Amino acid sequence: MDTFDFESRIIDIPDYPEPGVVFKDITPLFDDAEALRAVVDAICEHFSDAGITKVVGAEARGFMVGAPVAYRLGCGFVPARKPGKLPREVYSESYSLEYGTDELQIHRDALTPGDRVLLVDDLVATGGTAVATARLVEQSGASVAGFAFILELSFLNPREVIARDYPQDVFTLVKVS
Ligand code: PRP
Ligand code: HPA
Repeated sequence: MDTFDFESRIIDIPDYPEPGVVFKDITPLFDDAEALRAVVDAICEHFSDAGITKVVGAEARGFMVGAPVAYRLGCGFVPARKPGKLPREVYSESYSLEYGTDELQIHRDALTPGDRVLLVDDLVATGGTAVATARLVEQSGASVAGFAFILELSFLNPREVIARDYPQDVFTLVKVS
């Protein structure tokens, strides 16, 4: 599985969603059974000895990667959702977008102190979503064990942003520089 060519499955879409932006479409890594298995296996193999007890993924694309990773690691999965989507008491974290702010929430009882949490998403760009999700884990009293992403937009320096507060392992399958 180490040799799977993840990068060749990602399609560049010029000028989407606006002129000058090259959008990286990673859906081909999900619609093909072999590719999906390779993604999940690579992340799980990397963190197999990390003592992970829960996986957290951010709405919406983080669910697509996080749930199968949790299943394979033998952990529970906790969704970090946009405001107003979770029905019980929540912890909340706001984070900056290019224009304005957004917010993520998790149920207060989803994680417990002693949980070692792997944060999973399809892509890390600015790192804002990852840091906000990590703060939700900390609000719960659990600890962040690491971060896993399929794609890292290295030119936006997300590792620097994450490392300011979280020195934990950041594992990515493809880097775009
Ligand atoms: C995308 C992606 C990550 C986030 C990364 O989600 O799935 O969660 O952006 O960006 P960042 O590192 O700059 O925070 P988006 O907010 O577009 O939501 P979606 O998954 O619902 O499409
Ligand atoms: N692809 C997918 N999602 C994204 C991208 C991208 O290139 N940039 C920011 N979010």
